Amino acid sequence: MIRLALRVARADAEIALAELLELAPSGVEEVDRGDFVEYAVYGPPGELPELPELEAAVGGALVEVTTSELPDDWNERWKDFHKPLVLGDRLVVRPPWEPALGAAVELVIDPAQAFGTGSHATTRLCLELLLSLAQEGARGPLVDVGCGSGVLAIAAAQLGWGPVVAIDYDPLSVEATIENATVNGVTLDVRRGDLRTETMPAAPTVLANLLRPLLLEYAANLPEPPQRLIASGLLVHEADEIAAAFERHGLRERSRLELGEWAALLLTVA
Ligand SMILES: C[S@@+](CC[C@H](N)C(=O)[O-])C[C@H]1O[C@@H](n2cnc3c(N)ncnc32)[C@H](O)[C@@H]1O
Repeated sequence: MIRLALRVARADAEIALAELLELAPSGVEEVDRGDFVEYAVYGPPGELPELPELEAAVGGALVEVTTSELPDDWNERWKDFHKPLVLGDRLVVRPPWEPALGAAVELVIDPAQAFGTGSHATTRLCLELLLSLAQEGARGPLVDVGCGSGVLAIAAAQLGWGPVVAIDYDPLSVEATIENATVNGVTLDVRRGDLRTETMPAAPTVLANLLRPLLLEYAANLPEPPQRLIASGLLVHEADEIAAAFERHGLRERSRLELGEWAALLLTVA
């Protein structure tokens, strides 16, 4: 198993990450290195994205590339790294090898698949806002735009939303979402679609854990404004801009959560 790491200048990190996720949709590890941010991908030799492709993706932001061979017990260490996400006694997202914790909603997601083990701050913030909506009694049709592993769509279905449409442009995410829905015993309408070129289906509740450029594009091409939208994948300093982009559609900021450098918004019709 190889770890291939690209160090990029902090100022360019966000753009570099968006480009890297195109090449490594199953996710990249992010390590804070002071003035730099290191993004790493893992895989057996021959299955990693090609180095020239990666270098071209991050362009001028690139500072250094390193590769390292991982020790034989890497698999076990990797399992140690992926601990369950526990949101009180209300919701747990755990990898298949961790025992059940007995929360009201408990999802099993294999972190070897697409983005969305629940451990990333952006996913966690979405889940917290989704739980707050569930507590208020919001239910009905829901769309998860950029579903990754399907973690948000599956949580929504388990909390009682339905029908739930989960969309991603990445075929591996579509496959992972279908598989994860089966493992977790929920019915989802999983579709492949690109929000840059297609109109996303409308629903009263929309979850959109996307990066800033995609959220702006989604806001510009919003089909029918939802009654409530959870927008995540934003850096703290980007939140005002994203809130303003959706305000044009009559959606107002109702709550904002922050975790480290990440923020998520709950926007609702006034
Ligand atoms: C930050 S991940 C979120 C995954 C999951 N919803 C979660 O919260 O953990 C963003 C997802 O958006 C998908 N995506 C990126 N560009 C897209 C596009 N143009 N159209 C649809 N999905 C896209 C990626 O493949 C990725 O799965």
